[in-house]
Amino acid sequence: MPNIRLIYSSTAAGGMSYGTLVEIMDHAQARNVERDITGILCYGSGEFLQALEGERRSVNALYHAIARDPRHLDCQLISVAEIDARAFPEWTMKVVNWEDGDTAKRRAVLQSDTGSDVFAPQSMSAVQSTTFLLHLAELERELAAD
Ligand SMILES: Cc1cc2nc3c(=O)[nH]c(=O)nc-3n(C[C@H](O)[C@H](O)[C@H](O)COP(=O)(O)O)c2cc1C
Repeated sequence: MPNIRLIYSSTAAGGMSYGTLVEIMDHAQARNVERDITGILCYGSGEFLQALEGERRSVNALYHAIARDPRHLDCQLISVAEIDARAFPEWTMKVVNWEDGDTAKRRAVLQSDTGSDVFAPQSMSAVQSTTFLLHLAELERELAAD
């Protein structure tokens, strides 16, 4: 069974607090280790953009579970691609809170990849969302190393 990378966007249900985001992150990190899933979840302006990578069956099962989660709405599948190598191998789930510090650097990456510095994943194409998440990961690695 091949490995895939699946990218989707969604809108947080009303009242998404920082505490809920941390709860999702803690749960995701613990469960993704067991399923050998890696990825990145970017949250900003009430919108999510998430990439899940791993064995095709595991990623599909997780995506279906996530899509049923009442903490967000309107899951839009943006891209599914077979991959030879993972882009986020070190992260069981890296959560990037768009509003946390370093927003200007993230906006510059977004502007360069999508032509707008407004985080609006619902309107990104498959190529834009993939390129943006790969570049965002590079930036987050640099920021973590500083
Ligand atoms: C935006 C968002 C992203 C999520 N990402 C993950 C994830 O990467 N891994 C995970 O196990 N659960 C994730 N969840 C939680 C799942 O929707 C759900 O709670 C979980 O799969 C429940 O199944 P489990 O108890 O078998 O883990 C996410 C939820 C939301 C709202």
